[in-house]
Amino acid sequence: MKVSAQAPGKIILFGEHAVVYGRPAIAVPVAQVNVRATVEATGGGVTVESRERGRQTPQTPMGDLADDDPLAAIISRALRSLDIADSPNIKITIESTIPIAGGLGSGAAVSTAIARALAKYFGRELTAPQISAMVYEVEKIHHGTPSGIDNTVIAFEKPVYYVRPHVIETFSVPVPFRLAIADTGIASPTKIAVGDVRRAWEADKAKYESLFDRCGDIAKQARALIECGQPGELGALMNENHKVLREIGVSCAELETLLSAAIKGGAAGAKLSGAGRGGNMIALVTEANEANVRDALLRAGAKRVVITEVSALPPSTGF
Ligand code: PMV
Repeated sequence: MKVSAQAPGKIILFGEHAVVYGRPAIAVPVAQVNVRATVEATGGGVTVESRERGRQTPQTPMGDLADDDPLAAIISRALRSLDIADSPNIKITIESTIPIAGGLGSGAAVSTAIARALAKYFGRELTAPQISAMVYEVEKIHHGTPSGIDNTVIAFEKPVYYVRPHVIETFSVPVPFRLAIADTGIASPTKIAVGDVRRAWEADKAKYESLFDRCGDIAKQARALIECGQPGELGALMNENHKVLREIGVSCAELETLLSAAIKGGAAGAKLSGAGRGGNMIALVTEANEANVRDALLRAGAKRVVITEVSALPPSTGF
């Protein structure tokens, strides 16, 4: 028997970093990049093989992985939740098109796909809240102090308005909108950026609290614009959020180059997305200007540009 399950990538639209400090943030799934986990019967206990962008590991017995290895951590948590007591004889293969440490949620997507595939293989159900909680525990290994937004948006696969620790809301997107997502190609581990921001916050809490407040206000305004069908107005808020992220200290020269290129190419606004210091940026585009913006980003050094449409069903179908 052989089964597969997938999980999408994600981007943070507004509110990264501030979300760690209890301010609202908005994130959306990105189906154009994803992870597929396949589980098949073999002999010899659990083995794992990973073919990810930026990390390939040969078939490895789970027992050879460190206890804090994120793959070992999600597999053992998922098996426990599924009441599989003995080590089953299965091979788990992970294939991913999400760059690692690029702000697109690769860690949470790998964990979600594995949990879903194991549930399918054993003919059981794991609900989105169960998977999200499990993935959050594993995210702590990647991130240190994750806000919980990545596991939420990826496990629920819906646009999410999130305020740590309890507000998880989806919202309607009556007028879909398009984003160009461009990769600097620079891997930027979230744990390092988040740790640096924490040290800066500890050194000057008043300044950082007020920067985080500005991010939170922007996220609230953005949600209102999306819900009332005016996503074309989001550009100014993206520019504003990026300005604050620059002040927080998480931009870098390569991101700035891509942002200017996107704006010159016709995007209505742009910002870094995720932890910053590399990773990905996003720009608000339209069908009319997306080709121009994509070309401008590639000419400015983007390693990859993905165009995605943000859309959603109304909240009645939500969490
Ligand atoms: O780089 P990413 O997408 O994993 O995003 C991190 C987002 C932060 O707000 C910086 C951290 C977090 O846990 O929310």
